[in-house]
Amino acid sequence: MSYDIADKSLASKGLKRILWADKNMPVLQVIRDRFEKEKPLDGLVMSACLHVTAETANLARTLVAGGADLMLIASNPLSTQDDVAASLVEDFDIKVQAIHGEDNATYYKHVRAASERGPVITMDDGADLVSVIHKEFPEVGAKILGSMEETTTGVIRLRAMAKDGALKFPVIAVNDAKTKHFFDNRYGTGQSTLDGIIRATDTLIAGKKVVVAGYGWCGKGFAMRAKGHGAHVIVTEVDPIKAIEAAMDGFEVMPMADAAIIGDIFCTLTGDIHVIRPEHFEAMKDGAIVANSGHFDVELDLPGLEKIAKEINRDVRNVTDEFILPSGKRVFVLANGRLVNLAAAEGHPADVMDMSFAVQALASEWVVKNQGLEVAVHEVPEEIDDWVSRLKLQTMGIEIDTLTPEQVEYLASWEMGT
Ligand code: ADE
Repeated sequence: MSYDIADKSLASKGLKRILWADKNMPVLQVIRDRFEKEKPLDGLVMSACLHVTAETANLARTLVAGGADLMLIASNPLSTQDDVAASLVEDFDIKVQAIHGEDNATYYKHVRAASERGPVITMDDGADLVSVIHKEFPEVGAKILGSMEETTTGVIRLRAMAKDGALKFPVIAVNDAKTKHFFDNRYGTGQSTLDGIIRATDTLIAGKKVVVAGYGWCGKGFAMRAKGHGAHVIVTEVDPIKAIEAAMDGFEVMPMADAAIIGDIFCTLTGDIHVIRPEHFEAMKDGAIVANSGHFDVELDLPGLEKIAKEINRDVRNVTDEFILPSGKRVFVLANGRLVNLAAAEGHPADVMDMSFAVQALASEWVVKNQGLEVAVHEVPEEIDDWVSRLKLQTMGIEIDTLTPEQVEYLASWEMGT
């Protein structure tokens, strides 16, 4: 059993958190019960590069119940919950290689270990595992039946690979399933990002000017929740359609150069590089709080900030660094610019990860049942979205109407007019 975790003695705390999360993952539970009986992944070597959280632990349990020989590694050096990793090893016999705060070399050592074992199915959150397999283990890639991708940033990377003809095995854009991005990206990120900023700083949101960079599903969710807490929300965008949406949702829209001057709290959720740069940091008010909730830590130009700062004080509070600029103004950066919702809080709540991870589990089964998929980025089949959404509704105690035969006919006809 090959594992590399921080501290096995944390297992009992981790187990409690895994079981607590499981209570709020009823859809995944139904899949786990069926997987236990049907073993759709029997004997298949799987490697998953995901945030090692209590919710992911329940996905891991589900894949193992389905018969998978699973290794779980971290998809970010700061998102691993060490107690959960310990419980997965101790209580569930799952190979985990993930340590909170691991350095880059350790992170990639784990990614290589997950690649080398020759998985035939992989799961990624950000496409690091797929990327290393492509670059360093092409012989492993040749045998992969399919690889699931959890996040927008990863899907963008994979589509770029497919466009360049660089993609060597089929991938499934789990992120693009409706039961994933409409809920996880919006309500999950909305709540967990705010949670991370509050846990890191204990700042009051009410009355603050909160600058949201990027108005995709994650930005929309965070803007909505910041507004709900009484913030005055400002959105920055590069996409004119999203900018109109933000304006019509009632937010102020302006370039970052203008927002930098007036914002109190900044959060990037764009998937792009250097969205907040030294000239923006210099323009900020004394005491500005800056965070990122996008997948990679490149959205804030922190090397640029380090260059201009005259003094840096690390960890002045939970995962909060103070940068003193030549003007004497202070800027507080959270979680080294890594995703604040996982580095400073616990990621999205289980209720929403229930749907995302139900899709992950069912997409894995689909890949096994449909071996020989074309080498391309595939959408999750609609039946999976439909099944997950209907069961989620049922577990929420919500009923909906069904079309009458007359309505079915009406929707299928084109002759009826005014
Ligand atoms: N991504 C965002 N929140 C998460 C969570 N709680 N578990 C796994 N991945 C996540």
